[in-house]
Amino acid sequence: MTKKIAVLPGDGIGPEIVAEALKVLECLRTDFGLAVETEHAHIGGAAYDVHGTPFPAETLELCRASDSILLGAVGGPKWEGLDYSVRPERGLLGLRSELALFANLRPAILYPQLAAASTLRPEVVSNLDLMIVRELTGGIYFGQPRGRRINTQGEREGFNTLVYSESEIRRIAHTAFQIAQKRNKRLCSVDKANVLECTELWREVVVEVSAQYPEVELSHMYVDNAAMQLVRNPKQFDVMLTDNMFGDILSDCAAMLTGSIGMLPSASLNQDGKGMYEPIHGSAPDIAGKGIANPIATILSLAMLLRYSFDDAASAERVEKAVIKALDQNLRTADIHAEGAHKVGTAAMGDAIVAALRATTH
Ligand code: IPM
Ligand code: MG
Repeated sequence: MTKKIAVLPGDGIGPEIVAEALKVLECLRTDFGLAVETEHAHIGGAAYDVHGTPFPAETLELCRASDSILLGAVGGPKWEGLDYSVRPERGLLGLRSELALFANLRPAILYPQLAAASTLRPEVVSNLDLMIVRELTGGIYFGQPRGRRINTQGEREGFNTLVYSESEIRRIAHTAFQIAQKRNKRLCSVDKANVLECTELWREVVVEVSAQYPEVELSHMYVDNAAMQLVRNPKQFDVMLTDNMFGDILSDCAAMLTGSIGMLPSASLNQDGKGMYEPIHGSAPDIAGKGIANPIATILSLAMLLRYSFDDAASAERVEKAVIKALDQNLRTADIHAEGAHKVGTAAMGDAIVAALRATTH
């Protein structure tokens, strides 16, 4: 049966990097018989410009009707002055929330070819392969009450609420344990239980859930220490489980260990495995339209889509191998460029990956 992907390029470099992932998808269709169709919709600032909202009803409808979603990036200075309720980011957050995409998987893998691109010493990051499991539909990102007000002293005041119910913690904990079970069976849960009641509950519930996964070794770490350990000795981690905001921060940090945030894909899954796939980086307005962005994170997001939503590990591996082949050919976009390598733009990198993919038929 033909599967459907909703394609949401978004803002900034979003359309450029998504275009390269679509070339890869087209190759899988024509050369490998993948039965897939795509339909585009607007999200973020691009949607605001056309529909007056960053999250139009037709975009949500398309996403609901599709088997999975491929997203580029949202946001940019053009929309920064807008009211919070119509900022581009609301589109992304709305989609995560409406589709209950609570489980965000952010793998950080260092490709040996890029060891020199990391700001850390090669021996600290070589063979790095860790997975951050971030809760994505709760916590301070969505907690009520929230807003701005004038306090009794007549001062402006901003406030947000960090809140998690035990069922929210439990379901993301199960996801993390199940992933750890398939990997090296070590799970580190990150919290701030020494200060925040909410994350004290987080720790308590994670410990309860751990009883069902006796073969997984569970540890706990305060988030400040976790940030430090990530740059001190990242290879001590296998799977990290975090709440929404800590996961946002730690995953950017983990990304940089691998040389460039332009390399890291992500999957956001709901209870039924329906997913949205996007690079973890943002819309990079400073380089938008220049044709120099790295499309690899988006292409690897497509690989995750094939693996998790289409249950097609063979196609996913093909794409991942094609990416490695392009790196082996010493091709590098500006963000991962090092002396002696061949610098290429967005489209040339995409083309090289497609060529490598095509070559695997023979
Ligand atoms: C991410 C991004 C988003 C987030 C923004 C764009 C809303 O930083 O996916 O990590 O904070 O979750
Ligand atoms: Mg982020």
